[in-house]
Order: sequence, then structure tokens, then C-alpha cells
Amino acid sequence: MRKKKVLIATSGGDCPGLNAVLRSFVKRAGMEKNPEWEVWGSIQSFNGLLGQPQDLRLLDRKAVSGIHVKGGTIIGTTKRGGPFNWPVKQSDGSYTYVDRSDEMIQICKDIGFDAVVNIGGDGSQAMSKRLFDKGLPIIGVPKTIDNDLGATDVTFGFQSAVDVAAEAVDRLVSTAESHNRILVLEVMGKNSGWIALHASVAGGAEICLLPEIPYDIRKIKHFLDQRFEGGKKFAVVVVAEGAMPKGGIALGVKETELSSVRFEGAAQRLAEALQLAGIETGIRCTILGHVQRGGGPVPYDRVLASQYGVKAFEMVREGQFGHMVAFQANKIVSVPFEDVSNNAKFVDPDCFLVHTAKSINICFGD
Ligand code: F6P
Repeated sequence: MRKKKVLIATSGGDCPGLNAVLRSFVKRAGMEKNPEWEVWGSIQSFNGLLGQPQDLRLLDRKAVSGIHVKGGTIIGTTKRGGPFNWPVKQSDGSYTYVDRSDEMIQICKDIGFDAVVNIGGDGSQAMSKRLFDKGLPIIGVPKTIDNDLGATDVTFGFQSAVDVAAEAVDRLVSTAESHNRILVLEVMGKNSGWIALHASVAGGAEICLLPEIPYDIRKIKHFLDQRFEGGKKFAVVVVAEGAMPKGGIALGVKETELSSVRFEGAAQRLAEALQLAGIETGIRCTILGHVQRGGGPVPYDRVLASQYGVKAFEMVREGQFGHMVAFQANKIVSVPFEDVSNNAKFVDPDCFLVHTAKSINICFGD
């Protein structure tokens, strides 16, 4: 009997746990005998499939052995290129972008791929949906450290990022206290404040600023004045990269017309605003950056990612295309792509975790 073939890609920003998905997917596929399944990885997302020369790699048990503890992705990833926006360099050095999606579907047919799996965040799953709508037998697996995908309660990578961010808060507390300083920590999350909120509660930050709760600098100043008068002369502030003052906007830059916004400047803006408001205590900023994305996944993410990998293979085997693996109400389920796009998940300012944070005297500047 002909072996069945599945192509798997990791797309968008990397995230701790991607390798654990690859490993469990390949191991689960290896259990099938009738027919047998071959798993192929497309290097640097679907650019490996579309590029010249093609860059596809057979993922057998040996290739994935022990990789569940490793950070990054053994098949690489990228935010550039892909079937809908393939860059073509012009003679003047600029780029135009062409749609190669029909060609990609044809290439998959020609090679004999029975299914395609795309592990990625919101943008990547929007691409999966468009490919599915055009007839590609594709399923999605959600990933992002930001935890902002609405169709799933949690994404793997989030807990690993929180672990790093909370440790950073812990470390900043001791140096802030020694020097009587205000230390501002800027964390990732795009327009969502999940990492900032969890790191603030876990680490015991004094101030937590989220995109979902625009801040008033006067309220923060008042909070700090009271704290300093009460005898504590230092403070740790966690600011989400997408946080903004009331009436303001998140700070970021677009590198190219097609790229998403790269957030930067939230911590610095806050530091300047505090000084302008009359805070005389020394302020220093730490931008945590890609430290939150690098390194191996914490055990929680390894477990979640392993479940996603097994479920993803079983969805492929059952022909449940046009769906994404998800974790809902403590169960691993599959959800249609329609539920994924335009369904970002933000921190609800009235949720119990924000209530908890406020109850333990964390200031949100609202
Ligand atoms: O979506 C994950 C994420 O790490 C965001 O938190 C952050 O804003 C963005 O990606 C950074 O992207 P890049 O790696 O392209 O700088």
C-alpha cells in the first residue's frame, strides 16, 4: 500500500514548544501501519516548499528524538514570504509581492502530499484558512507566546514566556530595592497584556500597564508618591509593549508595507512621562525582548505541545481539514478556521486575575 505523506511547517515568530509538537506528531504518525505515514518538514515555513531549490526534510523518529526540550524549531520559521506574498526583487532593489498560492497547492499535489499542517499564530492560521478555502487539505496548530488566540484557552509558549518575565521581575526587585529606583520592565504580547499581567502577579510588581487598560500618568504618580511616603522607596513596573496612556496609542514601527507592527518604546515613554510628572527617583528601563521567545519550553508547554501534536496527526488521519487544534475547558478539541480569524483574545479588565492583582495592591494606572 502507498505510504501517505504529510507536510508540516512552522510559521511566524518562533515559540518554545514548537519542537515538542513536531516530535509528538512524528511519533504518533509512526504508529500507523496501514497505511504508513511519512512526515516532511518544509524549511522556513512554506518557503522551503516554494523556494528554488526546494528545501524539504524527512522527519523520522531519529530526526525528532529528544527535541521536545529544545527552543526554536528544527525546521526553521519566518514571517517573510509565503504563498500569498512571495517577494520578487526588482531591478531597482525594491520588492513586489506575488500570489503563489495556486502554485503551492499544485506543488503539494505533484509531490503527493495528502495533508498539510501549519503550526502558527493568528496571521499564519489566516493563511491556513485561505489555503483551505482554495482546496488545500490543511489543518492548523496554534502557537504564540502572546496567548492572544481566541479559539483556544491557552497557546503553548505562553507559560515559558511568563516564566522568563516573572524571573526578570524577581531579579529587578532586589536591585530596585538596593538602589531605591523605579525599574521599568517592558514585556512582549503585541496588543494583549497576558504576559505582563501574569508576570506582574507572579513576580509581585508594584505597577502593571496593559494595552487593555490605558493608564493615567497622574494616577501612577499618586500611587508612587503614597508608596514612597509609606517608606518604600523603590518600585518595579511591568509595562506591556502595547500599553498606552489614556487617549494615546501603542508605539511601534512598520518595517515594510507588508510586515506587522514591531512594538517598541512603551517603557521609555513611561519613564519620560514619570519624570515630566515630577518623579525624582532614578528610573531605568529593561526591554526583555526575544529572551521571552528563546530557550526551551517549561514542562507545562511541553505537555500541551505534545498533546497538540498527537491531536494534529489524528485530525489529519481523520481528514478533519479546515480545522485547528485547540484547548478548551480542559479538553483538546478541534475548531473550524472560521472561529480562529478575527477572534483575538484580550485581557478582560473585569476578570478575576485583574481583580486579584488590584486586591494585592498592584496599580494599573486606571
Ligand atoms: O507574537 C510574538 C511576538 O514575540 C510578539 O510578542 C512581539 O511583538 C513580536 O512577536 C516580535 O516580533 P519579531 O520577532 O518579528 O521582532
